[in-house]
Amino acid sequence: MSEMLDRAFSPAMLGALPLKNRILKAATYEGKSPGGVPGDELARFHREIVAGGVAMTTIGFCTTEADGRINDQMMWLHEGVREPLTRMIAELKALAPGVKVSGQISHCGNFSKIRKMQRLKRPLGPSRGFNMLGAASGAPFAGAMTLADIDYLVKTYADAATFMKAVGFDAAEIHFGHGYGLSQFISPKTNRRTDEYGGSLENRMRLPLRALEAVKSAVGEDFPILGKMNMTDGVRDGVHLPEAIEIASLFDRGGIDALICSGGTSSYNPMVYFRGDSLAQGMLEQQSNPIARLGLKLIGSRMFRDYPYYENYFLEDAKKIRDRVNCQMVYIGGCTELSSLEQVMKEGFDFVQLGRPLIKDPNYVKHAMADPGYKNGCTHCNRCATLIEAPGGIYCPLNR
Ligand SMILES: Cc1cc2nc3c(=O)[nH]c(=O)nc-3n(C[C@H](O)[C@H](O)[C@H](O)COP(=O)(O)O)c2cc1C
Ligand code: SF4
Repeated sequence: MSEMLDRAFSPAMLGALPLKNRILKAATYEGKSPGGVPGDELARFHREIVAGGVAMTTIGFCTTEADGRINDQMMWLHEGVREPLTRMIAELKALAPGVKVSGQISHCGNFSKIRKMQRLKRPLGPSRGFNMLGAASGAPFAGAMTLADIDYLVKTYADAATFMKAVGFDAAEIHFGHGYGLSQFISPKTNRRTDEYGGSLENRMRLPLRALEAVKSAVGEDFPILGKMNMTDGVRDGVHLPEAIEIASLFDRGGIDALICSGGTSSYNPMVYFRGDSLAQGMLEQQSNPIARLGLKLIGSRMFRDYPYYENYFLEDAKKIRDRVNCQMVYIGGCTELSSLEQVMKEGFDFVQLGRPLIKDPNYVKHAMADPGYKNGCTHCNRCATLIEAPGGIYCPLNR
């Protein structure tokens, strides 16, 4: 095995957490929590992943409150899921000794299709606006958070983190990217506030940094906090790399243990983080709501723009952030082939997160350790990503 693959498959510390290798499962919202409760399918999915040799799996898009969900099949971190989540995490650890489990702490902000919310009347973001996702389900408008809403939101992050530690998670990943709640505050495209939470970068970062601080003080130093952020929003008037470097430095100074640098905005330009085949056709096939179908036909080609796939597509930009921070760096984005994994290791990234390569082959690590000629087989067709709301959730159709 090459020196760099050896590095990838050797133990390493994530903050204070020992990991058996440097390969982590990326957060991929699984769509396997019917009614918001983690189900057997979710457990089976992560069982396959941990049995395949990764050091840490990540349960995708666990929201801090019911109204932070994009759809009502998403899990939110609350008492109602304590028992199934505790059981599931314990089972994963028993199955693969030494494996760690992380969860992505998320909030959709103003990007929700839920019409009847629990606490709120309508989804809230930094500023008032049109909620494109909710238009088809009868929730076309989003409101602006008051200062009290912001304080409440920060508390939901702290409570979610406390809950995660209690049910057995080993780490948490705060979602600061992809155009969801905290990302909406960071981006000047979506944050048009004129108070202390809008305008300058310092102001736009106030809420994300408060959320980070609240999470950190809830869980303490021995529980690593990762942050997934955008290097570009992929939209005009949004965040781009020069500002993203400053954003990364602020998270670094705020005490983040590790940064995962991605990009793109789910509501405007998600192909920035997927690359490869457009999601438009697959989403149309999955969609039964006639208004949503019409919307997809009208704006599908503008929303799902052409971003050809190439290996390690975020590497050059991520290196620029790596050079400016002291925290650990987790590479994400198109690390499918072993030569790409070697390159990421050679560039000094501490860890790599894999999304689609592990959906295609949960045994990636075992296979790659046994065979230096290993080929993963993911074609970046992105069909898995069009199945997040399909019955049973995501899978790779190439495997069936
Ligand atoms: C099915 C699917 C679901 C995803 N869900 C999430 C999510 O919940 N949160 C997130 O931050 N990224 C999500 N992503 C993006 C991945 O985490 C990752 O950034 C992207 O797939 C690029 O990595 P890869 O080339 O290793 O797949 C998802 C990706 C896929 C394919
Ligand atoms: S459906 Fe399978 S081959 Fe296509 S992108 Fe997803 S994991 Fe890769």
